[in-house]
Amino acid sequence: MKKIITILLVLLVGCSTITEPTSKPEPVKINYSINQNQHFDQGQTIDFKTLISGDYDTIEIGTPDLSVGQHHVKVTMKKQDVQEVATIQYFIDEKEVVVVEEPPKVEPKPEPTPEPEPAKPEILYYYENSQPAIMRKDKLTLVNKEYRLSEQYVPSNLVAVPTSIATNANQKIDAEFLEQFLILRQDAAQENLTINLHSCYRSYDTQMSIYKRYLKNDPQSKVDTYSARPGHSEHQLGLACDLAATFKTLGKFTGTKEAKWMEDNGHKYGFILRYPKGKTEITGYMYESWHFRYLGVETATQVYNSGLTYDEWYQQNLQ
Ligand code: DAL
Ligand code: ZN
Repeated sequence: MKKIITILLVLLVGCSTITEPTSKPEPVKINYSINQNQHFDQGQTIDFKTLISGDYDTIEIGTPDLSVGQHHVKVTMKKQDVQEVATIQYFIDEKEVVVVEEPPKVEPKPEPTPEPEPAKPEILYYYENSQPAIMRKDKLTLVNKEYRLSEQYVPSNLVAVPTSIATNANQKIDAEFLEQFLILRQDAAQENLTINLHSCYRSYDTQMSIYKRYLKNDPQSKVDTYSARPGHSEHQLGLACDLAATFKTLGKFTGTKEAKWMEDNGHKYGFILRYPKGKTEITGYMYESWHFRYLGVETATQVYNSGLTYDEWYQQNLQ
């Protein structure tokens, strides 16, 4: 029985480039096209040369594979000293139909547009709406998120904290602070309480590195609830210290007898708990059982009795 087999030839690459007229002699070029959608009967000998038309002088066809499947054959055309190589792609299916077809067009993949880097929020190392602290000769200068110290500010009356009462090396603090603290510490010891100084005076630069270190772990909005931006820390005044009991970890001070005693008695020696529990809205900071500010006995007692934060008391009494 004679099988009628359709052979489909497809143009592979038609390639003639239109060149602009020019006065220079045109370079030799081979223009050719592949005849597409050509059908052949089974058994018919396919002359691959007939599948390509062009202005070449000679043509050579590679050895075509005639097994079932998709193949291609190389065509080399020559004209004078120019050579052009084309590829004819064809397909022989299970019914032995030979189809010469255009190679599948590979759609150029669009370059993946790089995901735009999420814009990093700019870190501000001070509070934009803050103003320079109103510097006072007494111990009452207010430093908070609203009032900042200059980068250059260094208190003049710093003294070294004796290592015997420190849980942290190389601490300095205001001389009057230390004097009063030594009395407080002795009185606390009478009640079997050990209260030490941990972190006291911090320069602007030290505060900057502390603040930046925290930023590595927490978003700025969170860091701002527990660490002052440089210039905004009372530690730079030399009038605030973080306290510790017998251990170094500040957080462990919370809930100790020492913390309770300090909160209730600190004012008698001139110290106030600067960031009380439940006052974050006013102070801008979370509860810090360990951070005490020296104001002198008179003011500390007034602030303590008022039940106000120092921010509020200052506003009502000194502004
Ligand atoms: N932890 C307090 C707010 C400070 O950094 O000064
Ligand atoms: Zn502190």
